[in-house]
Amino acid sequence: MNAWPPFTVEVHASVRELAAAIARRIADALRTRPALVLGLPTGRTPVHLYRELRELCAAGLADFSNAATFNLDEFLGVPPAHPGSYRSYMERHLFRHVNLRRENIHLLDSGAADPILECERYERAIRSAGGIDLQLLGIGDNGHIGFNEPGASLSARTHRTRLHPETRRANAALFGGDWRKVPAEALSVGVGTILRAREIILIATGRAKASCVQRMMEGPVTTRVPASLLQLHSNVRVVLDKAAAAFIPPRGRPQSAGAGEARYPRRSLRG
Ligand code: PGA
Repeated sequence: MNAWPPFTVEVHASVRELAAAIARRIADALRTRPALVLGLPTGRTPVHLYRELRELCAAGLADFSNAATFNLDEFLGVPPAHPGSYRSYMERHLFRHVNLRRENIHLLDSGAADPILECERYERAIRSAGGIDLQLLGIGDNGHIGFNEPGASLSARTHRTRLHPETRRANAALFGGDWRKVPAEALSVGVGTILRAREIILIATGRAKASCVQRMMEGPVTTRVPASLLQLHSNVRVVLDKAAAAFIPPRGRPQSAGAGEARYPRRSLRG
């Protein structure tokens, strides 16, 4: 018998449809729980979702006035106002367009004089907000979540980390297209902190993500694929477009055409 609760998998026909569906889910969560604590990702994947959230907020259909946000990660050593910082990214795509209160927006400080103290401060801030209710995640081509890069071990808590070259390349657009200008170090919420979120939505789009999505869902739980640790959580929704779902075996795919949902049985813990 499979003792592990299943992932819930949702496959959408287009990125636009996927973004609209997640935005509606967040707006609903805000209606049920106005003081929702959201964990937020950056990167290319959530750009469409943030646009949908801006539109829902402008139409009066999403109210962030009592909500709080905690971003997952931040580069180290860039001034917070630098266009490449994740703070700037969040301002451009979401924060300056919605009715979040400034004091309820939390990011790791990219200019922190003492990164260790900054990580401790962030963990305390998440705890005093009551923990993360809904954690949104992207996934790196290499299987990372946040800036928890594949390796022989992972940090449970918020920590300072070195970025893999492929992660720096994936972020080159924020630094004038030159990956060598992407900081080599970052601060990231740890995997243990992510796993304490009450609910997790992992979003992946595009064929380049199909293989890491498969390894996350089908492979062993291993620090070599940090997203595979999500198999240990009991409330994870994996939201994919068709391209990212290309390697998910048929039993995990919705039967109907277009968007659909399926429970995805997990394998037992290995390796
Ligand atoms: P991407 O990054 O959305 O730019 O592909 C995802 C991630 O690294 O989490």
